[in-house]
Amino acid sequence: MSGELAVGIHDLAFATTEYVLTHATLAARTGADVAKYHQGIGQTAISVPAADEDVVTMAATAAATIVARHGSDRIRTVVFATETGIDQAKAAGIYVHSLLGLPSAARVVELKQACYAGTAALQFAIGLVHRDPAQQVLVIAADTSRYELGSPGESTQGAAAVAMLVGAGPALVRIEDPAGLQTADIMDFWRPNYRNTALVDGQESIAAYLQAVQGAWKDYAEQGGRALTEFRAFCYHQPFTKMAYKAHRHLLRHCGLDAEAADVDRAVQPTTAYNSVIGNSYTASIYLGLAALLDSAVDLTGRAVGFLSYGSGSVAEFFAGEVVPGYRTHLRTVQHRAAIDRRQDIDYARYRDLHQLTFPADGGDHLRPRETSGHKRLYES
Ligand code: HMG
Repeated sequence: MSGELAVGIHDLAFATTEYVLTHATLAARTGADVAKYHQGIGQTAISVPAADEDVVTMAATAAATIVARHGSDRIRTVVFATETGIDQAKAAGIYVHSLLGLPSAARVVELKQACYAGTAALQFAIGLVHRDPAQQVLVIAADTSRYELGSPGESTQGAAAVAMLVGAGPALVRIEDPAGLQTADIMDFWRPNYRNTALVDGQESIAAYLQAVQGAWKDYAEQGGRALTEFRAFCYHQPFTKMAYKAHRHLLRHCGLDAEAADVDRAVQPTTAYNSVIGNSYTASIYLGLAALLDSAVDLTGRAVGFLSYGSGSVAEFFAGEVVPGYRTHLRTVQHRAAIDRRQDIDYARYRDLHQLTFPADGGDHLRPRETSGHKRLYES
């Protein structure tokens, strides 16, 4: 990439669901000690979509605020990363493009590689902006994480969408070269076409994630990246927030550094506030970590942030960003906290009904009553 031009995240907004299920409610049902969820995996709640919510409604809600602030004249590309899309052929981003009235002179595409695809979308967007700095790219990462009821994965579900405007002269985070990459063909987590819940080998997936951290970091170092000690904080993919702590301890030890609890906490804790109450949002998870970090009390002006994106199967990438002076005046902290606080608490029975809901497969029109209050499913499929 060309040296001088600063390209990165100009704006970032997230949206989540209408409902929330607390881990206290889940524990009362499963019989697990609630401390296993609160301390063991670092989660207190998960976002649960209403029957009339999906990746498109969440994505449109997140992206609408970005378009309202910046307009859409310069957006010539929309990249929608998801592993829980709504159609095998048509990109979910086309519904968002239509809902937001984006320019017809635009390309829209969907990307998939488990939780990693949001990072691929961001890197592809940066490449496009380097080619023509006058253009902006709308990057969206949106997912609903679903495992079988009663399975170990159930406590690590969740749902959210993050929308990012990528452009030259970013107001929030300048994304740096190089990136460290690793791909390995592993069956740690997958979801074949006939299933709407994921299959996972929990412990193997954790081991695969840690191996991938090591591999991506090795390549990053070989490509001439920053020293580990230069980073103020690390945004890891967070299937559950304790995974970020495990990953950071692993990386420090791999690099021959002490993994003192206070240091790990300082580097990771500010990234966990949103994920701990939203749960796994797959592609969006790492960027919810960034949102929490930017919205936190930590002054990041001019500081380097490390990003470790992991998608089962597996692809991992380590890259760095530098937080731009003045970033605080562009944040959406109030909007983000409101998106979390407005969710309605539901009981286990309501959650189970929503989990078991399946859509008719007869190709007909089936109207559902409106459930959501903040937004609604406006598109037709
Ligand atoms: P599990 O069997 O329910 O829980 O599975 P566990 O027995 O492993 O316990 C979890 C932690 O709680 C342990 O801590 C326990 O010690 C602790 P650790 O030893 O790991 O530090 N614990 C307690 N702590 C305090 N008080 C207690 C207590 N009891 C136990 N009373 C698992 C947990 C995460 C494996 C499961 O939920 C799962 O399979 N989740 C889905 C898979 C997953 O999230 N994998 C993560 C890596 S793969 C990834 O990130 C990619 C992914 O996002 C998909 C994609 O890429 O698209 C999943």
